[in-house]
Amino acid sequence: MGIVFDEGLIDEIKSQNDIVDVISKYVNLKKTGQNYKGLCPFHNEKTPSFIVSDEKQFYHCFGCGESGDVISFMMKLENLDFIDALRLLGEWAGINIDEISTSKKEKEEIYRKNKIYEINREAAFYYYKNLVKEKNEGISYLVNRGLHIQTIKKFGLGYAKDDWEGLNKYLRNKGYDQESIFKAGLVLERKKKNGYYDRFRNRVMFPIINTTGKVIGFGGRVIENKEPKYLNSPETIVFNKGNNLFSLNLAKNEVRKRKQIIVVEGYMDVIGLYENGIKNVVASLGTALTKNQANLLKRYANEVIIAYDADIAGQSATLRGLDILKEVGCRVRVVRLSEGKDPDEFVRKRGKEAFLEEVKNALSLVEYKIMLSKEGNNLKTTEGKVKFVKSITQILKELKSPVEIDAYIKKIARDSGIAVEAISTEIYGNTKKNKEKKEIGNTSKYRSKHDRYTNKYNIQPLKPIQRIGYIEAERALLKLIINNNNFFKRVKEKLSFEDFADQSNSEIAKRIYELYENTDSIDLEVILNQLNIEEIEVLHQIKRSIVPEENLEKALNDYMKMIQKHKLVQRKIYIEQELKKLEKEENKSKEQIVRIRELCIDYEKLLKELKKL
Ligand code: UTP
Ligand code: MN
Repeated sequence: MGIVFDEGLIDEIKSQNDIVDVISKYVNLKKTGQNYKGLCPFHNEKTPSFIVSDEKQFYHCFGCGESGDVISFMMKLENLDFIDALRLLGEWAGINIDEISTSKKEKEEIYRKNKIYEINREAAFYYYKNLVKEKNEGISYLVNRGLHIQTIKKFGLGYAKDDWEGLNKYLRNKGYDQESIFKAGLVLERKKKNGYYDRFRNRVMFPIINTTGKVIGFGGRVIENKEPKYLNSPETIVFNKGNNLFSLNLAKNEVRKRKQIIVVEGYMDVIGLYENGIKNVVASLGTALTKNQANLLKRYANEVIIAYDADIAGQSATLRGLDILKEVGCRVRVVRLSEGKDPDEFVRKRGKEAFLEEVKNALSLVEYKIMLSKEGNNLKTTEGKVKFVKSITQILKELKSPVEIDAYIKKIARDSGIAVEAISTEIYGNTKKNKEKKEIGNTSKYRSKHDRYTNKYNIQPLKPIQRIGYIEAERALLKLIINNNNFFKRVKEKLSFEDFADQSNSEIAKRIYELYENTDSIDLEVILNQLNIEEIEVLHQIKRSIVPEENLEKALNDYMKMIQKHKLVQRKIYIEQELKKLEKEENKSKEQIVRIRELCIDYEKLLKELKKL
């Protein structure tokens, strides 16, 4: 902040760090034409849309829109501020920016930050030595909680003695000035302003370490039952709770491999899971998840699993966290522990496999919200049932795909004993009844045949939900046939690529149909190279679209039916409009009368076909 770097220095560092070389450290890049292409590290994708230009020394992702130069790449990927990114790139190029940088202000800022980092590291070392050197309450506490010395070392845990000045004296003896020790948040000033005393006393210490390995702050847990249970470092120039996650430094490599990150509430949850071999875990530092933390998670993982405590506080923290994660576009699911209050207790009681099983069965956002609503209402009473159905209606209305909504309606009906009809009516409104009423009204008068047709089925605009529905169905269907040649063969019998109503979907379908002429499996790379940017974006959406996990056969048929239905409904609307136009003619010509008859016959057929679907 407020630091201006010499442009010459920045240019020098940039020119010494070729963007293709740097990004290649993190992303598998392939040369395509003038550019390089790979899987975007900033969002979840399976087809590459991340482009790096050698010539322009610039990257851009067509999927998520991230773009920038080598410095912004490092800032985003490693969660560094500008100076730290520059420092790291400088190191790689053999340039020490702390020596070179010219402005006095920036030198001072770097100097002050480095000093706090150093003091924090010394403090962590002091606490660690206290813990492991001689017998003390801290070590017996941790060992009693089931931790092995390797885990204690890995996290650099420590012990703050029951001593008012132990740390302060230690640091002063090392030569650090009082002002800096205070600014690091490790000591507090005495009321009478006649000295300083240690902030952390008689506590087990948890150093908080950022992704570049610097100690930025501490959490300290009481050993007896005292308040507050945990004491944390205050915000300092190097520590901002909302921008960091406990143990991301250890979790990040594991997460890079698995692409999944588990977020828990507490320090001890992270450590307990780690002790039991589950290492892709971070804690949100005792606050509700912030947007910055959510973005940080998204940078490292494709999927975030929330495993908060099962108590009320944990529940509302989960809900808030879910919304924030969804907002930044994370895929997210929720673990609800069936036994034990928090992940640490659970894993100690039930072990690694049981916890991983819970992660495997984690609930989607919608499932989680439905479950909470079910628990919050007494389904044995009518009032409870009504409230329950009303609340899930709100939840389901946020879903775009009717196929998905349908699946949930059936599941809820099964679970709650409320009729499918009742739930559907609540969600879609009572459209069937409305329609019947209208029809009865119309038939009460005598009408000529075409007259009846044109008025009886007056044009009703498609509901938006249906419109989104067929696009989603088309995409889900494309996803299924991309992955399965047999599915493709069955779809081809009923649908041509032109039957896909959405222009981009149809274009992509065309490529898939063509490719299957010559091969048995689809190489998306081949298709990608034939598409324009909008279509590439759609292809990504297809890859991301959700298809059911089981009963794919049924899904395939449902999707095909929806697409056929959409086509027929479009045709129906067209005929209705034509008939209405012809109807307005005062003196109908012979041709027009013939045309009306033809359209009516067509219409009858169409209605029958629609009924069959
Ligand atoms: P918990 O009370 O769930 O802690 O608070 P825990 O990690 O399970 O601790 P144990 O198992 O009782 O030892 C969750 C997190 O909330 C923050 C801490 O980060 C803690 O790990 N917290 C909690 C505080 O900052 N201050 C407090 O007083 C309590
Ligand atoms: Mn706990």
